[in-house]
Amino acid sequence: MECRATAKRHYRRALITGATSGIGAAFAAALPPTTDLLLSARSEEQLAQARDTLAQPGREIEIAPADLRQPDAVAALVERAEAFAIDLLINNAGTGQIGAVLDHTLEAETAAAMVNVVAKVALTRSLLPGMIERAKCDGSSAGVIILSSAAAFAPVPYFTTYAATKAFCLHYGEGLAEELRGEPVSVLVVCPGATRTAFGGRAGYGGEMPCASEPEDVARKALAALGRQTVVVTGALSPVALSPLLGPRRLFTGALGAGMRMVAGRAQR
Ligand SMILES: NC(=O)c1ccc[n+]([C@@H]2O[C@H](COP(=O)([O-])OP(=O)(O)OC[C@H]3O[C@@H](n4cnc5c(N)ncnc54)[C@H](OP(=O)(O)O)[C@@H]3O)[C@@H](O)[C@H]2O)c1
Repeated sequence: MECRATAKRHYRRALITGATSGIGAAFAAALPPTTDLLLSARSEEQLAQARDTLAQPGREIEIAPADLRQPDAVAALVERAEAFAIDLLINNAGTGQIGAVLDHTLEAETAAAMVNVVAKVALTRSLLPGMIERAKCDGSSAGVIILSSAAAFAPVPYFTTYAATKAFCLHYGEGLAEELRGEPVSVLVVCPGATRTAFGGRAGYGGEMPCASEPEDVARKALAALGRQTVVVTGALSPVALSPLLGPRRLFTGALGAGMRMVAGRAQR
């Protein structure tokens, strides 16, 4: 590969998954106009709107519609991102359903595993070698951001599969960061508490979230933490994030389950 001699000051080309809404859209808005963007989500129409909103003279913005539940779509997105020569991968898209595992369809349960786990692993594993090689070439540094959740720190009954996928994201990112120490790439796991986005409604929770953060705060804190720390927890400290300090795990899970059963009941009405 041909190397460029210039060192960079910030990320030049970013792939953001789930870029049309909430935290992903906030990441897209928070990156400086000197960062070219490859925006992905399922809705081509919303991606085109995002591209038009973020357009700046001299800025390259491409859109890549992809349903991350589908392995073929993930593979096609890898090709687009490799061709775009990204140096920042924001693994943001996520999905999940509140309610009992046995009340969900198999499709809904596996969607959470595919989008929140399999697609993130595939994108990260496939794109990292090129990102590291390009960074070594130009004496810069690449970045990988993985959206986990405050729900990653303990089992969350009635949000079981979602919380388990987020525990995977946390451990995956922390392990990867350790493996890549010494390489020109920073890995950051972001664990937001409740955040005011479309996510709650999509997950089946229509209620108010009184202590919720704004997605812009999450994106800003994450970008500030990238390269400085491995895990950042944003928003009001949720009991789940504090759970390792809260006594026997089984008792905590039981108490959390009782609370979540009520939330799930309301969600189903
Ligand atoms: N909001 C919270 O309280 C909260 C808390 C902790 C962690 N998080 C995490 O933060 C991340 C962003 O969530 P958000 O709150 O910003 O949610 P959001 O507003 O619902 O946005 C989700 C984004 O992901 C895309 N997406 C959903 N399913 C997809 C699929 N199958 N394939 C490709 N893209 C898909 C959506 O676009 P399309 O529908 O067009 O595909 C959208 O752009 C997620 O990983 C979530 O788990 C959120």
